[in-house]
Amino acid sequence: MKKVLEVRNLKTHFFTDKGVVKAVDGVNFDLYEGKTLGIVGESGCGKSITSMSILKLIDKNGNIVDGSIMYGDKDIVKLPVEEMRKIRGNEISMIFQEPMTSLNPVFRIGDQIIESIKLHQDLSKQEAHDKAVNMLKLVGIPRAERVVYDYPHQLSGGMRQRAMIAMALACDPKVLIADEPTTALDVTIQAQILSLMNDLKEKTNTAIMLITHDLGVVAQMADDVIVMYSGKVVESAEVKELYGNPKHPYTQGLLDSIPDLKSEKKRLNSIEGVVPNPMELPKGCYFAPRCKFAMDKCWQEEPGVYFIDKEKNGETHQVKCFLYEDK
Ligand SMILES: Nc1ncnc2c1ncn2[C@@H]1O[C@H](COP(=O)(O)OP(=O)(O)OP(=O)(O)O)[C@@H](O)[C@H]1O
Ligand SMILES: [Mg+2]
Repeated sequence: MKKVLEVRNLKTHFFTDKGVVKAVDGVNFDLYEGKTLGIVGESGCGKSITSMSILKLIDKNGNIVDGSIMYGDKDIVKLPVEEMRKIRGNEISMIFQEPMTSLNPVFRIGDQIIESIKLHQDLSKQEAHDKAVNMLKLVGIPRAERVVYDYPHQLSGGMRQRAMIAMALACDPKVLIADEPTTALDVTIQAQILSLMNDLKEKTNTAIMLITHDLGVVAQMADDVIVMYSGKVVESAEVKELYGNPKHPYTQGLLDSIPDLKSEKKRLNSIEGVVPNPMELPKGCYFAPRCKFAMDKCWQEEPGVYFIDKEKNGETHQVKCFLYEDK
């Protein structure tokens, strides 16, 4: 397994009138060729800012204040803007929830894909055009030969999403970052897009980072999962292990809150309480105020990271919780 990205102790903070928001605060993970890493957690826990940090697209009032993002032998954190521009949208490309943020409304779909192809690959105009049509076909757009001349607003939401994915994949990215890529789509199209992403991962060996609050999607798509809470990773494991043997009380709560189709009692078990205000984080474990297992210590100290069942999992299953402190 080849490692494509190695994120260590990543800290991205925002500086506001009211104080510092530690949106991402000491995050670690690895991304491997041909594998999908799922990132889950409630709204505001830092999923998008983690991905934006990798792309170095952080709002002006924020900054990566510590850590490293190794991409081969380059540290993205230290990379000059110019070099980052070459990598972004090429070797590392992205899909967002709202396709109109990456599609330009005033240019034809085909021209946008062609531009993305030609920017990074040495192809003639005709070759690039043919490749654009092929990409549109690959993402399941009917009559791609005609759609290539359409403007974004002429397509339905689902087709626009596909066009954006075609654009994101046209340059054969090594890393694809997908932030809630299907949330806005209806379930049928969602399923098609996800299976398409799976196909492409297998065909092109792309490493995928998939951000979603939908634990069902993660179960279906991811090889590995990290669970975030208030800017920190609280648990990480291979997908089967995480769903079969969740350890952190927060992960257990998230999994319990998946609506059970068989019972009528939807979401009855969802975790009580809300995520803490980032300006007023509790001392100790940030989850303690919502945790039914919280001990005295949890209110005082930040928990370390402990390994679960090392004999079976090696160091792949990690949890940031005093319940699993090595005794
Ligand atoms: N420009 C900014 N200035 C101040 N705080 C910000 C800024 N951008 C993001 N944040 C804060 O950073 C934190 C993490 O935000 P992020 O968008 O990563 O959450 P998320 O996990 O992606 O949530 P969601 O599931 O709703 O998309 C939030 O508290 C958010 O308010
Ligand atoms: Mg987000």
